[in-house]
Amino acid sequence: NNSAGELERIVLKGPKDSSAEIYVFGATVTSWKSRGKERLFVSTKAKLDGSKAVRGGIPLVFPQFGPGALPQHGFARTRRWELVGAAVHGEGVYARFELTDNEETRASKWPYKFVLQYTIDLTATTLSTIIKYENSDDCDFDFTALMHTYFRVPQIDCAVVTGLKDVLYADKVKSADNVKEERDAVKINANEDRVYSNVPGVVSVSYGGERVQIRRFNYKDIVLWNPWAEKAAEMSDFGDDEYKQMICVEVGTVASKIRLSPGQIISCGQLLTIESNNDDNKL
Ligand code: BG6
Repeated sequence: NNSAGELERIVLKGPKDSSAEIYVFGATVTSWKSRGKERLFVSTKAKLDGSKAVRGGIPLVFPQFGPGALPQHGFARTRRWELVGAAVHGEGVYARFELTDNEETRASKWPYKFVLQYTIDLTATTLSTIIKYENSDDCDFDFTALMHTYFRVPQIDCAVVTGLKDVLYADKVKSADNVKEERDAVKINANEDRVYSNVPGVVSVSYGGERVQIRRFNYKDIVLWNPWAEKAAEMSDFGDDEYKQMICVEVGTVASKIRLSPGQIISCGQLLTIESNNDDNKL
């Protein structure tokens, strides 16, 4: 809480040393621990005072991915969300946040009435993040959306992403479209910024005897991003060497748009599951 007594963040405590921390600013998940180990990356230079989107954790991109008529990645990641519920359940604990249109968004280039309900649910080995998008306007609208997850890895050299073989991607660094991924195991060793579209199955990130499975609901695409040394040096809220400790594997619908008519709702999200060599969830 800040000095005005307003809620700044909420900490969820789950079983077996699991926890999650969520800032009301952007409803940004800034920490996820499973078995006592931090799974998300947040830059040591990240702004956590509301002056800028958080550099790390899970910023929420809505209603625009990337540059465009609105500020980069839209307004959801820089608005204060309202905490509307939190409770313990049989397997863990959840918190729910809400964001609706306001004067500022109605005056923006995306002027529609909407309700977003975001549920973050923690168990011993999972974190699920799901948003219910509702059109509360009297006309159709469309948008792109993404969960911009920064995974913490011990060393980028040993991080492997699977589940992308044969998928077509747009390479934003090389400005090439419709490139086919030939690899089963994708490793990053340069500035990479790729949008894989219509990814069919489960994607995972593995490192040092552990794997994080990324299951999606109703999101079609995966963005893979690491700024590497040269881009890192250009970012004021990212340490020069921190690209070695993170990989962004982002679930969303960004290559196409989600369209909703008045009253229509769609729920989209991800279920992240930790699997380890050392436990019941054998790799
Ligand atoms: C990724 C985009 O999702 O986010 C990149 O594909 C972008 O192009 C990156 O650089 C970070 O964006 P931002 O606005 O948080 O610096």
